[in-house]
Amino acid sequence: MPRHTITSAVSPARPFHRPDSHSSLHCGAISLEVVAKKYGTPLYVYSADQIVERLQMFHSALAGRDHLVCYAVKANSSLAILKLLADHGAGFDIVSGGELDRVLAAAPEAANRVVFSGVGKTAAEIDQALTANILEFNVESEGELELLAARAAKLKRKTRFALRVNPDVFAETHPYISTGLREHKFGIDIKRAATLYASVKGNRWLEPHGISVHIGSQIRSAEPFGSALERVHKLVRQLRRDGIDLCSIDAGGGLGIDYHGGHSDPAARVAGYAAAINSALNGFEGRLLLEPGRFLVAQAGALVTRVLNVKQNGRKTFVIADAAMNDLIRPALYQAHHEIVPVRLRPGRARTVDIVGPVCESGDFFARDRKLAPVEPGDLLALLDAGAYGMAQASNYNSRLRPAEVLVEGKRARLIKRRETMADLLATEIV
Ligand code: LLP
Repeated sequence: MPRHTITSAVSPARPFHRPDSHSSLHCGAISLEVVAKKYGTPLYVYSADQIVERLQMFHSALAGRDHLVCYAVKANSSLAILKLLADHGAGFDIVSGGELDRVLAAAPEAANRVVFSGVGKTAAEIDQALTANILEFNVESEGELELLAARAAKLKRKTRFALRVNPDVFAETHPYISTGLREHKFGIDIKRAATLYASVKGNRWLEPHGISVHIGSQIRSAEPFGSALERVHKLVRQLRRDGIDLCSIDAGGGLGIDYHGGHSDPAARVAGYAAAINSALNGFEGRLLLEPGRFLVAQAGALVTRVLNVKQNGRKTFVIADAAMNDLIRPALYQAHHEIVPVRLRPGRARTVDIVGPVCESGDFFARDRKLAPVEPGDLLALLDAGAYGMAQASNYNSRLRPAEVLVEGKRARLIKRRETMADLLATEIV
């Protein structure tokens, strides 16, 4: 695994920068020192400007094609971020009734831009989405299609659905987040799809509206997306010959980012991705739906943490931070790499250290054997690219209170989620 020096972490792909070498790390115009002092640590800080900029990259790359970007809510479901994206025209990809509630709380006007994915939808969740009149259900099994038909008939609501097909395409990524192979639990075998669409012909409550595919997450090459969509497009043409005319193709999410140096150009990556899609869908006149999550929000966010202690155990140096695996689980769960930068640089030589949290597990680490500029207790560190699957996967393990969140909009920083209190945690419990 390559090691990167601290200076490489500041890159145009990230909103975090130092106005000059002596200043603290900033998010746009805001010093992380200032917000950490005001709101405490651990603290998630996001750049609204970068999130909007990333959304615009999809719009520019897909100009000329009818498309809707349905942000994958699971990546970061903060209401303020959902509202920001909705205000800039995004739709949403949800996987639970809870995520639908969030969209409705943040941007009720966006209900008709929601697609509902997920392998295990309950009848109650289906009813909730039918009542909200969402854009489309992405159906993942025959059983779910039967349930959807039954609920739609019961509620007397005509329902747009897509089958999520499994294209049997391999995409290189972490095994936990790869989804496009037949052996995965996701989707319906692409060979079965035509029969299933045909089986609901004439059902007055079910409208075959589209087809969807999602092959995995953190995929850095455009090629597997192209292969999957070629298969999907072929099926769409076959279905048209059979008299089933689908008006949308949902290409899923999965576009990866560069967690290491951060030097790859995000706009170029979106352009390459769009080119692969356009080439696979050449001749398709309907609407393209996309479900990016990580690509829109990951690099916009950092987790700011304060160093509690620096200790030596044998030959190893441990930097103990006040954030832990419960706040950002990606390193522990996927052996994920996050660049870690001191908010204010001290002079002196970098040292090889482990950066860990206070949770009582050896799995509670953010980096192992990492070169880090000198730090002392009380210093702040920023864990970069933490905007996606950071706060969204945070827990209360060790009865730790989940972090506060701040959104930087232009020259202003505002609290979008206050830090939890012990009273919040205890509120649901019965002695
Ligand atoms: N659509 C569907 C149906 C999905 O399952 C996912 C992610 C997305 C869209 C968005 O994928 P993205 O554009 O964010 O790659 N917790 C893991 C990632 C799990 C992804 C799950 N599904 C991580 O921290 O890497």
